[in-house]
Amino acid sequence: MKKNFFISLIAIIIIISCQEKKKTEPETTSKTYLEESHSYAQPNDAVITHLDLDINVDFESQIINGTATFDIENNGSSTIILDSKFLEIESVTQNGKQTEFELGDFNESLGQPLKIAIKEDTKKIAITYSTTAKTEALQWLTAQQTADKTNPFLFTQGQAILTRTWIPIQDSPQVRITYDATVKVPQELMAVMSAENPQEKNANGIYNFKMQQPIPAYLIALAVGDIEYKAISNRTGVYAEKSMLDKVHTEFSDMEKMVVAAENLYGTYDWEQFDVIVLPPSFPFGGMENPRLTFATPTVIAGDKSLTSLVAHELAHSWSGNLVTNATWNDFWLNEGFTVYFEIRIMEALYGKDRANILALIGRQDLEDELEALKESPNDTKLKLDLKGRNPDDGMNSIAYDKGYLFLRTLEEKVGREQMDAFLKSYFKKNAFSTTNTEDFIAYLNEHLLDKNNMSFNTEEWIYQPGVPENAAIIESDAFSNVEKTLEEFLKSNNIDASITKNWTPQEWVHFVRNFPEDISVSQMQQLDDTFNLTNSTNSYITMVWYEQSILNGYHGNKVDYKIAEFLNTVGRRWYVTTLYNAFAKANRTNEALEIYKTARANYHSVTANTVDELLGL
Ligand code: BES
Ligand code: ZN
Repeated sequence: MKKNFFISLIAIIIIISCQEKKKTEPETTSKTYLEESHSYAQPNDAVITHLDLDINVDFESQIINGTATFDIENNGSSTIILDSKFLEIESVTQNGKQTEFELGDFNESLGQPLKIAIKEDTKKIAITYSTTAKTEALQWLTAQQTADKTNPFLFTQGQAILTRTWIPIQDSPQVRITYDATVKVPQELMAVMSAENPQEKNANGIYNFKMQQPIPAYLIALAVGDIEYKAISNRTGVYAEKSMLDKVHTEFSDMEKMVVAAENLYGTYDWEQFDVIVLPPSFPFGGMENPRLTFATPTVIAGDKSLTSLVAHELAHSWSGNLVTNATWNDFWLNEGFTVYFEIRIMEALYGKDRANILALIGRQDLEDELEALKESPNDTKLKLDLKGRNPDDGMNSIAYDKGYLFLRTLEEKVGREQMDAFLKSYFKKNAFSTTNTEDFIAYLNEHLLDKNNMSFNTEEWIYQPGVPENAAIIESDAFSNVEKTLEEFLKSNNIDASITKNWTPQEWVHFVRNFPEDISVSQMQQLDDTFNLTNSTNSYITMVWYEQSILNGYHGNKVDYKIAEFLNTVGRRWYVTTLYNAFAKANRTNEALEIYKTARANYHSVTANTVDELLGL
């Protein structure tokens, strides 16, 4: 009895003393940030946690100016370092008092470190600044460059490292902040951000925003224009210029269904609202997954919903990318490869396996083209990249997207869909509102999917070796096989049965045109154009690949040269535009490309202009 009592007493004392010890130990909640080569910030020393942005958008001078006030966590450092590029820094305060700051050496892709003196107890720093004409994130458009042609327009593009050109900030995907913003714009315009948004214009041109979920800097976005809102459901809707609004609304009317399908796959949509804004045609990407408000190109408004996989893609980023973010740009495939996989799953859920496989096969061909283009630099065909000393843009090609997709699809076929989905769902849940890198992912994959099921998989080969491993999933589509057959027959017989092509989707047309052999003749192209009027197709994807073939094969019928020049002078979507300039270069027609580029360049966002400059050797 006594002995037992004593043992119990000792046990109780031990338990209590352990608890005591736990209580007195300092809390080590702050996370550790990885070394990273694309930001000057040293978040382990001092890190931003919240931004309060107060800016004025001036279309006349094409300048944004104002104050960025940050809440910070100081880990005992005497400086906090932010990223800044092409910004004019006027003054800085810490805890409300003027403080010393210094801009370090300028680097072509990274810009300058902004070093600010802080104290042990500094809780807030405020930077008064303005943007300059060199800003790379902003594109200021004249009324002429918009759909309605009556008012100017402005939009930002942050990914990968451009946010630092319009806000001084710790521009690393590992650093997440919440934000509030007050944005003053001309009265006739409306401002929207990657945040809680207005749905109507207000009289004074002052808009207030709140983003309550922590996001990395590359996802802070702003658009200002004469736009209107039209709801699709109580949590989805579209913004566009007046002349586009109804068309956009009809095109994207399946948006709510997409959100439901996505939630059924990988868990609740954590951002409350999912809207899309369709921007003027110079927008440099198909889409950009700014949280709560995807930015999109008008080139996907085809009139038949045929290009809406773009919306599924950007929506998918609400999980892969925005909720679980690549830790560094070397891990970019974690954002994009997962997103393509998820996009295709959403499309399958809404429209069936055939449409999903068609998308997968287009990506498969993009991947082969990319492998061919990168055959002199095999290291760039690995999923995990090493972009130290390079611009992260260099790693943003089809490898991350389509090899990433193929890896996940192959893995799915190995483990089965049920296991795959349970695994992905748990992966998103575990890492929500934080970052992962490739190595964390592999560890999680081994522990929660492979080891658990006693399975092995050549993950390391897929991720760390160039090219495509032998066990890659084989993707098939009867529709595409038929297209290939039709093309073969046409090339042999110069005859094409229009009853076969009558119900082709735009993707089938794209597949047809893309697979012309090098020796297709001008008269064969003329015949196709006369029969199907491809030069004047209203589908931008079809015209893009048709123009590419026209350039490569010296086809000049149906005023196609005029149409190509017009296209390049209005559309700034980088993927489209570079495809066409590349075709000119390949066909030894660089002079013609340069002639077009002379006027077209002024219509491009810096992201596109910089890529084309390089491509044309300027
Ligand atoms: N996040 C990307 C766009 C991006 C990538 C911007 C890298 C800056 C740097 C976006 O989600 C995307 O992948 N867009 C694609 C659309 C697509 C694959 C459906 C595009 O722009 O074409
Ligand atoms: Zn993407």
